[in-house]
Amino acid sequence: MPTTLIVLAHPDRRSFNGAWSDATEAAARAQEHTVLRSDLCQMGFDPVERAAHYADWPDATHFDPLKAQEGAADTATTPADVAAEVAKISQADRIILHFPLWWFAPPAILKGWFDRAFQHGALHDVDRRFDTGLFRGKRVLMCATTGSRAEESAHNGKEGDVRLLLWPTAYTLRYLGFDVLEPVVVHGVHGYHRGDRKTELTARLAATLAAQHNVIAGFDTHPLLTFNRDDDFDDQGQLRPDRPSYSPFIRHADTPGD
Ligand SMILES: Cc1cc2nc3c(=O)[nH]c(=O)nc-3n(C[C@H](O)[C@H](O)[C@H](O)COP(=O)(O)O)c2cc1C
Repeated sequence: MPTTLIVLAHPDRRSFNGAWSDATEAAARAQEHTVLRSDLCQMGFDPVERAAHYADWPDATHFDPLKAQEGAADTATTPADVAAEVAKISQADRIILHFPLWWFAPPAILKGWFDRAFQHGALHDVDRRFDTGLFRGKRVLMCATTGSRAEESAHNGKEGDVRLLLWPTAYTLRYLGFDVLEPVVVHGVHGYHRGDRKTELTARLAATLAAQHNVIAGFDTHPLLTFNRDDDFDDQGQLRPDRPSYSPFIRHADTPGD
């Protein structure tokens, strides 16, 4: 059976993010997927990479996280919590991330999951990344909520363009070779609405939960984010002048806004 991994980064399973992840799970099960879950907060996943995770790390004066991860992969001494996540990521045919935007980025626990569970030596190395990434042909979807309104999260919005705020996360996934779907973002999610606004939010969130079945049903045809291919860059790792720029993060002119 195909397998979906759902990763939830929210401290409360009863939150909207929790309910949204449950809607994803129900939709995936309706497609007869095996569903794996990483509810990071509920698991107490430790997002901080450090020497204490590696009993075999030989040097008490220096900790090199990339080498520690690679050495653990080579010697089958990967920390148990990371090994469990690596197994889920490897088994998954697709991954769906559910998280709120916290300080213009995903919550730290999700970043820490990338830091630790995207284990160097196991899931990527210098020869297996970007176009040669291990997860080529597999898809990831980010489902995110913001407290800010859609207008404030637009390209000219005061809270910053949410598509840009999510780019570093998308590029992390692209680094491993994944195809990254256009994120699904629900705006204006917070508990301070009153009266009509609260009624409107409640209805909008209920509609989002109901619509998740269609999002998951359309997963394989959902539009993808576009990234540069490896050969768009020269030997110095710079974008060739004749190749397109798909994001202000990788652009031709060193001028803000170009
Ligand atoms: C620590 C923290 C930081 C936040 N930072 C942002 C932010 O940068 N941008 C934003 O739009 N909302 C921000 N919010 C609001 C959350 O995105 C919002 O509460 C969440 O999306 C609601 O989803 P939930 O009901 O599932 O918790 C922040 C909330 C917290 C707790």
